[in-house]
Order: sequence, then C-alpha cells, then structure tokens
Amino acid sequence: MSIKKYDVVVIGELNVDLILNKTAVFPELGKEILARQMNLVLGSSSAIFASNISCLGAKVAFIGKTGVDLFGDFVISSLQSKAVDTGGIVQDRSTSTGATVVINFNEDRAMITHPGAMEAFSGNEVNWDIIRQSRHLHISSYFIQTSLQKNIGNIFRKAKQLGLTTSFDPQWDPAEKWEIDLDEMLPDIDLFFPNESEILKITHTSTVEDAVQKIKPAGTAIVIKQGNQGSTIIQNSKAHSLPAFLNEEVVDAIGAGDSFNAGFVYRFLQNQPLEYCHRFGNMIAAMSTTAAGGTGAFSGRQEVFTVLKEKYGYEEN
Ligand SMILES: Nc1ncnc2c1ncn2[C@@H]1O[C@H](COP(=O)(O)OP(=O)(O)O)[C@@H](O)[C@H]1O
Ligand SMILES: [Mg+2]
Repeated sequence: MSIKKYDVVVIGELNVDLILNKTAVFPELGKEILARQMNLVLGSSSAIFASNISCLGAKVAFIGKTGVDLFGDFVISSLQSKAVDTGGIVQDRSTSTGATVVINFNEDRAMITHPGAMEAFSGNEVNWDIIRQSRHLHISSYFIQTSLQKNIGNIFRKAKQLGLTTSFDPQWDPAEKWEIDLDEMLPDIDLFFPNESEILKITHTSTVEDAVQKIKPAGTAIVIKQGNQGSTIIQNSKAHSLPAFLNEEVVDAIGAGDSFNAGFVYRFLQNQPLEYCHRFGNMIAAMSTTAAGGTGAFSGRQEVFTVLKEKYGYEEN
C-alpha cells in the first residue's frame, strides 16, 4: 500500500473474554448453574479491530500494555497469530492483564470486567517510532483507559502533524459519566465511530440529529453504528443510512462494532469512496456475528473473502 512499514497502528486496551453460553437460566446470587459452552478468546475493542483489519490484509502494529501473566501471553500470541506486530506492547509486572466474563443469555449478555493493565497504560509509554512508520492511527475505548485518556487528544494531534489519518471509537463508559471533550478532539479525527447509544450519552441528547447538531463535526465523518438496523454516516451535514446485512441467527454480537471499524478503515486506506467503506463496514460487522467472540469469524484472508462471496455475492476488486 505504501512505503511506510504499517498501514495501521492501534493504540489501545488488551484483555481476554471468557464467554459462557448455553445456561438454562440467568445466574442468581447464592446459587450455581452450568454453562454448556465456554470460549476463551481475544477480547478488547482495540485488539479485535487490530486482529480483524490485519486478517483483511492491512499491515498492523499494536501499542498497549499487558501484565506478565497467562492472559497477557494469550493476548499477544493471539495478535501474532493474525500477523499483528506486537513490538509496541509493554509487559508490566506491576499490573495484571484484564479479563471480561461474558454471560450470553436470550440474545442479550451480561458482562463483568477486571480492567487491570487497561487502566495502567499511560501516554508516556507510547512508542512514537512505530507511529512514525504508520499511515493511520486508530484508538478505541476512551473511557476504560483511565491513564491514557488525558493524552488521547494530544496523541491524535501529533499523529495528524506527522501525516497520519486517524479514527476513534469511544466505546461504552463503564462509569457512565461520559466526560469527554469532543470539540477539542474532533478536528484531529478523520473517522469517528460511536454506536448510537454512545453518541446520545456523550452529547446528552435523545436523537441522532440532535447529537450531530451538538458536536458540529467540521471535516470529521461521523459513523454511527445502529446494531441490526445498520449504520449512518454524517459528513458535511449530510446523513446517509445503510441497512445491516441482516443475520437472523446471531451467534453473538461481541466485536461487531470493532469489525465494522476494521472493514471501514480497510477500504478507507485504499482511498475508496466513503459510501463504499460504509457498506463494507456493515458487511464485515455482519460477518462477525456469525461466530463466537470478536475474531472467531476471521480465520484468514482467503476464508473471509470466500464467505463474503458466498453469503453476500461480494467480489474483491
Ligand atoms: N443482527 C445483525 N446482522 C447483521 N449485522 C449486524 C447485526 N447486528 C449488528 N450488526 C452490524 O454490526 C454493526 C455494529 O453493531 P453495534 O451493536 O451497533 O455496535 P457495537 O458493537 O459497537 O455496539 C452494525 O452497524 C451492523 O452493521
Ligand atoms: Mg462498540
């Protein structure tokens, strides 16, 4: 794609997901139930994005932190197995790699996360040599990365000055405080990827129209993910919605939004029109709902494009 070493560098949080499926009832305090299916998989929005965009064919580097523990090794080897360069991941004995326990029940899910290293990673541990060698910077999970958070605006600014394009997915705020200065950050962000509930919470509004009015995005393309309804892109005050490639038999929706971002950014880096990027994002997101966890549907490039062709009649151009 270019003379730079990496197409995409991701700065973000790392954790594992322990996914429990097929329980007869939802757990209750003081009782024990059985889950008939269990998967331990790569978790975290940033890592799922990195893994899936690498699987599509981009050259990817990751910058972040784990503990020195089994989950840390698991996260790093999972990324490496998808050809993500993990040289920018710091392993730190003073913290532990975070984990999310997911209980899927009746098409919904309950989750509990131990943040660990996700809260310990700070701005001065970011390896700028890697960023200088990259075309695009993606950052996800603003709220959960409590140490990195205060530096994210500056990191985007500096990356833009270095000539990178940028994308940002805020993700959910587990504290539900939603404190973020978008006016300050958006001028340095090319693609802003919230889901619908996140953008409404961040802007304290109840409709997407009001939310967009409120944040006055300047040149940023705002791409709002709307679950099985698809997604809407807004740029220069013009909104365009596309329906989802509806999957009626969702295995789980873990990482659907991150897979959407991966599909969108992959095409964006090929300088495709935004409408094409948008449609491809929806397609890759739909694909992610067909297998367990965030990366289960993305075993290799060849396999992915075979499925895209069979399921959606899509031909790689
Ligand atoms: N049932 C489904 N069938 C097909 N695509 C889906 C389905 N549910 C979600 N998606 C796709 O996944 C994208 C992201 O889902 P969403 O839940 O809105 O984001 P997030 O995972 O960030 O919360 C949607 O924009 C849509 O393209
Ligand atoms: Mg999301």
